[in-house]
Amino acid sequence: MTAKVIDGKEFAANVRAQVQVQVAKLREEHGIKPGLAVVLVGEDPASQVYVRNKHASTVEVGMASFEHRLPADTGEADLLALVESLNADPKVHGILVQLPLPAHLNSDLIINTIDPAKDVDGFHISNVGLLGTGQKSMVPCTPLGCLMMLRDHHGKLAGLNAVVVGRSNIVGKPMAQLLLGDSCTVTIAHSRTKDLQAVCRGADILVAAVGRPEMITGDFVKPGATVIDVGINRIERDGKAKLVGDVHYASAAAVAGAITPVPGGVGPMTIACLLANTLTACCRANGLPEPEGLTA
Ligand code: GUN
Repeated sequence: MTAKVIDGKEFAANVRAQVQVQVAKLREEHGIKPGLAVVLVGEDPASQVYVRNKHASTVEVGMASFEHRLPADTGEADLLALVESLNADPKVHGILVQLPLPAHLNSDLIINTIDPAKDVDGFHISNVGLLGTGQKSMVPCTPLGCLMMLRDHHGKLAGLNAVVVGRSNIVGKPMAQLLLGDSCTVTIAHSRTKDLQAVCRGADILVAAVGRPEMITGDFVKPGATVIDVGINRIERDGKAKLVGDVHYASAAAVAGAITPVPGGVGPMTIACLLANTLTACCRANGLPEPEGLTA
């Protein structure tokens, strides 16, 4: 079997186009412009690239983008004061504090200071609790993107065996909650799981989010399964820099029914879902109906 390639780039472009249409509608019918504030502390090169991409995508769909770049030695009190001012700013509907923060800053404290209604990352403890109890929340962008692609490919997910490899707060745990919300039978596997290969081979849906390059090979995949690769690992091969996922693509694609590539799979969906979440937050803040198909 050769797997169908799930094209995240095309899917994300479609999500952004839907957001753009809704943003134009909000402006024309209600005179409202959704706004996203991104806070970057320090000069981590990868974070700078992310923030630049977020800014460009936000402007492209017609939203307001507010960028706050602070020096690496910014004190906690100053950062908390900025978050509180963004909480109070009616032009800002979504707030994202780029992680990782410099080590002297308490990330949990800062994230939990964001107004949960503006927490477009879905990292605030209130949103984590709401998602875990099946209530309306802001949902982390990467797992939301994976869910959208899975729903599109499968239609209904109910009854399918889903295995999520990785237990991070940003991807693994919320991904498992979302799949449970769609009535999958969910297993969270991780580095200490016994016979990981056998566990993975039971999966109709296999989500790899471990951060280990090409760890999931074809012999971990049930024939016909859907494989979602969340990994983005920079490696060097034959003297060249290369981007690979947590899945060994060639061997997995030979067994799977469908698979996301790296690059061009889950990656582009994260920013698209950040824009979708900002739109959702803006609609909720204004008591308007939420955009269909762009939420969990
Ligand atoms: N750093 C890398 N990915 C993310 C993300 O999705 N959100 C935030 N806040 N920081 C990140």
